[in-house]
Amino acid sequence: MSSPLFRKKSIEKILHDATTNDESVHGGGTHLKRVLGVWDLTFLGIAAIVGAGSFSSLGEAVFKGGPGVIYLFIICGIACGFTALCYAEFASRIPVAGSAYTYAYASFGELFAWIIGWALIMEYSIGNIYVAFSWSDYFTSFLHRLGVHLPDYLATSYAEAKNAFLSHSANTESVNAWKTAPLLGGLRIIFDLPALLINIGITALVYVGVKESKNFTNLMVLLKLITIVMVICVGAYFIDPGNWNPVNDQGVHSFMPNGFSGVMAAVSSVFFAYIGFDAISVMAEESKNPQRDLPRSMIYSLIICTIIYILLTLVLTGVVNYKLFEGVGDPLAKIFELQGIHWMQLVVSFAAIVAMSSVLLVFQMGQPRIWMSMGRDGLLPKQFERIHKKYQTPSFSTIITGLLVGVPILFTDKVFILDFTSIATLFAFVLVCGGVLLIPRREKEPGKFNLPFIPSKFLFPLIVLAGIVFAVSLDKNYFSNLFQIDSTNASLHISTIVFWILMIILSVITFIKNFSLIPLMGLSSCSYLLTGMTGENWAWFCGWLILGLIFYFSFGYKKSKLRKELNSNKL
Ligand code: ALA
Repeated sequence: MSSPLFRKKSIEKILHDATTNDESVHGGGTHLKRVLGVWDLTFLGIAAIVGAGSFSSLGEAVFKGGPGVIYLFIICGIACGFTALCYAEFASRIPVAGSAYTYAYASFGELFAWIIGWALIMEYSIGNIYVAFSWSDYFTSFLHRLGVHLPDYLATSYAEAKNAFLSHSANTESVNAWKTAPLLGGLRIIFDLPALLINIGITALVYVGVKESKNFTNLMVLLKLITIVMVICVGAYFIDPGNWNPVNDQGVHSFMPNGFSGVMAAVSSVFFAYIGFDAISVMAEESKNPQRDLPRSMIYSLIICTIIYILLTLVLTGVVNYKLFEGVGDPLAKIFELQGIHWMQLVVSFAAIVAMSSVLLVFQMGQPRIWMSMGRDGLLPKQFERIHKKYQTPSFSTIITGLLVGVPILFTDKVFILDFTSIATLFAFVLVCGGVLLIPRREKEPGKFNLPFIPSKFLFPLIVLAGIVFAVSLDKNYFSNLFQIDSTNASLHISTIVFWILMIILSVITFIKNFSLIPLMGLSSCSYLLTGMTGENWAWFCGWLILGLIFYFSFGYKKSKLRKELNSNKL
């Protein structure tokens, strides 16, 4: 007999629950408004994807990997492409809010659904903390260029200022924030005011409704795309192809000056830049034609953003030497600063502010909708599914999201948030791709997205074998080296060993069950990207999961509607 933990919600039931909401619970509202078309959704995707990853953390990525980081953009683009197809398959079958959480409920059962929902908090809310901090960096430097100066202690996080002071950092703004902050009792008053204010503004916008937010998003994305095209065109004029073959510390000229391991070290920054296409799927209940439009918009936005990233990376690494990006938080503005083109610095800072505002907006819209689904299922308190009578938005969940992003802004910094967000999102992607393998195949239906079935009984094991042969051809001691584990390489080696074991197990199961290739490739490529995460990332992530499990067993497990229904059916 199957355990209630792994009890699955049928797709029919998910669709039924989403369309028969209890008026009293929803405070008088019935359903979310269906106002979004395919280009609105594509714009939402671009709004969520192009943001802090490209404008901020790209500098760190390029510093670690050199021009060769472009390979990582391609690898991540491919991994996200396969994953997007899996999301599209799920979204076309289950066109209701909730994203990967809802999909996991249909394929893996309740416990995994909860785990995914919990991991998605990292992607949507914790990720937004990073974006809010980056937004603030660009906003304050934009003001600075216009001659308006905020005191340093109102433009830096407490943790960042303290760390900078204690480590005698070269970051003068942060050190200055610590030295000049007013004291209240014994406590220094240091916080990131712009990050807090943008969070309050975005929360208010999301609270009053998707229509206003949609128009705002479309406008911001247009501005962002125009500016990025300008950056690429003006930047291209200053490219020196010699910069694409820089010399490394050993005196060797290479496109990958720090080798492939240097490129892989940038995985969090690069992957973070791709996060967002999946946010489209949580808008299913506000989409006019979710079956047709959700899959299309995900793929469209991913293709557009991949092209943008490749071009931006080529420009960035072509204009200046990759080493100049050490510790640079505004790399796209930096290349123009170094060329002395001040008007472009201003344009880029403005675009960054716009780009990051739209990322904040989409994620702030996504999180409450996932919680709304979890509330509907009884895994979160009832208030989470409440829809505002007038605005028809998930009001309570929206406010809680605002608090979850806003409060940590007061006492965290962005250093580890980036890794934390990327690891949780990759984990969720792995489960989504795995979930597609578990749902039953169906006949092709006209007008709906159908993930093509590519039988891979022999193909997938052959691809894994080819991967092994390729790795060994590059380094014949590849596998024996993997087992030489020390404190510097432990997380990389252990996760790579686990990756290969997973691939071999998957090959065997695929040989028996003849799985389809696309979800298998999504699962494998996202698992591979996970090998780039550090031991510290894994430790934090595991801690977060344990916290989630404690919450589940003390609340959701007992209150689950599905569990109650199954119990009452037994009586
Ligand atoms: N991809 C989003 C960004 O880069 C999260 O800001």
